[in-house]
Amino acid sequence: MRPVGDITRGTTAPNRLRRVDRWMVRRLGSVLRATPEPLVVDLGFGALPLTTAETFDRVRAVAPGARVLGLEIDPERVAAAQSWARPGLSFARGGFELAGLTGRITALRAFNVLRQYPEEAVPEAWAQLRAGLTADGLLLEGTSNEIGQRAVWVTLDRNGPLTLTLSWAMAQVDPPSAIAERLPKVLIHHNVPGQPVHALLQELDMAWHTHAHLATWGRRQRFAAAGRTLAARWPVVDARHGPRRGELTVPWETVAPV
Ligand SMILES: C[S@@+](CC[C@H](N)C(=O)[O-])C[C@H]1O[C@@H](n2cnc3c(N)ncnc32)[C@H](O)[C@@H]1O
Repeated sequence: MRPVGDITRGTTAPNRLRRVDRWMVRRLGSVLRATPEPLVVDLGFGALPLTTAETFDRVRAVAPGARVLGLEIDPERVAAAQSWARPGLSFARGGFELAGLTGRITALRAFNVLRQYPEEAVPEAWAQLRAGLTADGLLLEGTSNEIGQRAVWVTLDRNGPLTLTLSWAMAQVDPPSAIAERLPKVLIHHNVPGQPVHALLQELDMAWHTHAHLATWGRRQRFAAAGRTLAARWPVVDARHGPRRGELTVPWETVAPV
């Protein structure tokens, strides 16, 4: 089967996807451990599979039996990646059809891939990627900046989108709404007045400014307080711990474009 999709820019960087990987390992750790030889797929690893190899180490730390497969649509990048392979970590050519791995993937990461497609391509790509998941598997589809200090992703299961997570390194949190330039393709054109994601970012900025007096205690304290304030009006998931880590997760239906 011919891989579905287009070859796009292969930009990547070491440690760029640490924020989404940590979240994935926390969220899926027990599923990965409970599944014999769980399969984790990194779709669109780029010019070099740096982030795939890092994911392999992070996943293996919680699930030593896990296998990680990097898929990439560009055959030259797949060939270049072969020298990175080791037991449990492999690379192959594939696109949104996931090289035929229907229903077998426990964790599927597609980062900085759909960002380079038109918005109209998102529903079909999501549908194809979701079909690759096991019943308890998750797809993390999102975007980050070049060095991974800001990242935003949609988490989906086989049935559809579940949540949106925004994640900041504290060095890049002022103001929180500056993360808007890293919204995934499905949202980036909807950060305008009248759209829920715009309201979320505006209210978060307001809460951040309200807690300016906490700046002397550091940005983490200030962001955690802003997260608590936001949680009074938005159904923030894990409002107690998420903001302390620089993360904000909300149900997808609260931010889906209207
Ligand atoms: C910007 S790089 C992202 C690299 C890495 N994921 C990261 O975030 O650092 C995007 C890569 O996705 C690949 N790509 C684009 N569409 C794809 C598809 N449908 N299936 C597999 N790979 C794809 C491109 O060829 C490119 O190498």
